[in-house]
Amino acid sequence: DYVKTRRPSSFPPGPWALPFVGNIFTVDFNRTHETLTQLAETYGDVYSLRMGQTWMVVLNGFQIVKEALVTQGDSLADRPILPLQVDMFRNLGLVFSNGHLWKQQRRFSLSTLRYFGAGRKSLEHAILDEFTYSGKNIADLKGKPFNPNLIISKTVSNIICSLVFGHRFEYEDEWFIELIKRFDSALQIEASIWAQLYNSFPLLMRRLPGPHHTVQQFWGELRDMIRSELIEHKKDWNPAEPRDYIDCYLTEIQTRKGDAESTFDEENLVMCTLHLFVAGSETTSTTLRWAFLYMAKYPEIQEKVQAEIDRVIGQSRQPSMMDRANLPYTDAVIHEIQRIGNVVPLSLRHSTTRNIQLGDYTIPKGVVIIPNLTSVLFDKREWETPYTFNPGRFLNEEGKFVKRAAFIPFSAGKRVCLGENLARMEIFLFFTSFMQWFTFSMPAGMKPVLDYCFGVTLAPTPYEICATLGLVLA
Ligand code: HEM
Repeated sequence: DYVKTRRPSSFPPGPWALPFVGNIFTVDFNRTHETLTQLAETYGDVYSLRMGQTWMVVLNGFQIVKEALVTQGDSLADRPILPLQVDMFRNLGLVFSNGHLWKQQRRFSLSTLRYFGAGRKSLEHAILDEFTYSGKNIADLKGKPFNPNLIISKTVSNIICSLVFGHRFEYEDEWFIELIKRFDSALQIEASIWAQLYNSFPLLMRRLPGPHHTVQQFWGELRDMIRSELIEHKKDWNPAEPRDYIDCYLTEIQTRKGDAESTFDEENLVMCTLHLFVAGSETTSTTLRWAFLYMAKYPEIQEKVQAEIDRVIGQSRQPSMMDRANLPYTDAVIHEIQRIGNVVPLSLRHSTTRNIQLGDYTIPKGVVIIPNLTSVLFDKREWETPYTFNPGRFLNEEGKFVKRAAFIPFSAGKRVCLGENLARMEIFLFFTSFMQWFTFSMPAGMKPVLDYCFGVTLAPTPYEICATLGLVLA
């Protein structure tokens, strides 16, 4: 790793760093993404910070982020090796792995997701099916205010469950509720200052008590939960008829037996499964929670979405992916929610695999790179009035949907979100289904608050909302 205390001459500039702790106090960890975006105004689109002993380069704005992640993507494909992740995931799995292992696992997971997306037991069916459970659950509240957090987590987690385990869970299932709770707590601790400290001072922190030990215990328990599903799968696994991701993975282990290059084994299976949950649940459910809130905030936009859905789909059938092309306004609203919701504000960290040239600067091999997605999704050079909620920016004069290059909530390049297609499918089908059934509004006397809390994802602050059934189904 690159650990010089002084900024080398061709290195990107940045704020003055204290000895030892570096720029830890430059950044407000309750709004890291905003601090990092503001610093670009002083130091430019490519600047550097030192966190403890680790140099980081922050990339800002669409042009630079694209140049780095896409044009020079090969040089930025690695993840930094962080002590907390090494201790928890041992560099296995999908999200924090590197090199040959990462390539093999990523390729396999992408093609397996594609297989089930297009396969007989399609994900589309699983999503629509899940919506009916979720929708009924919410309809039972008869428009009374509720916090959508838990039910939406269950709804979205069940899609990953269908994909990897081949079945969903009842919302009352205690094993399932336990699984979700474990994930929530583990992710919360992960996003806290403890994780920062652990990564900065691992030798010390490994010995000290604190929540970082609890989080390791949670991950251990989660691995055990997945392992128990694996044991069940092996009992009636039939390679000729794969039911889910685990079945496909078992086949891959078997086919590659004796191949010295193979990275497929049961330990990696468990880790990849865990990573699909980690990366795929919180992100998607947070996006839906933003969606409900924005619809309550802008009732006239909600009405236009509902009118379009009424016209194109009606009330007698469920939406399908085929409808998307005919729902440009709804599609534009979804894009604008994802843009302004900014759910993964700083993407995930990358690391340089060789010396690279960016703008006027040389960044050495092994430096941590933060692709600041906030600075792209709110880039003044790309979006007019970026802080305004305006679905119209995704529509042309005829009301047709238009793609925008700077729309990269899933990041870009070699490490682009592996679940992008699945996530977009989930968000589209869930959102249109909710809009087909319900109207969202704030409880009497309450105004929607669009504040965020900064954690693993940028989430709305907890809120209660009312979901009223439409006339036809009421
Ligand atoms: C990585 C966003 C849903 C699986 C990422 C990254 C972002 C992201 C920004 C980091 C990319 C980078 O390093 O530059 C999102 C958003 C989602 C979403 C906004 C939903 C709205 C999902 C879903 C899945 C998933 C549903 C799984 C089924 C992954 C995985 C990675 C990843 C495995 C790591 C890829 C790698 O390191 O090679 N996602 N994601 N994501 N995402 Fe997603």
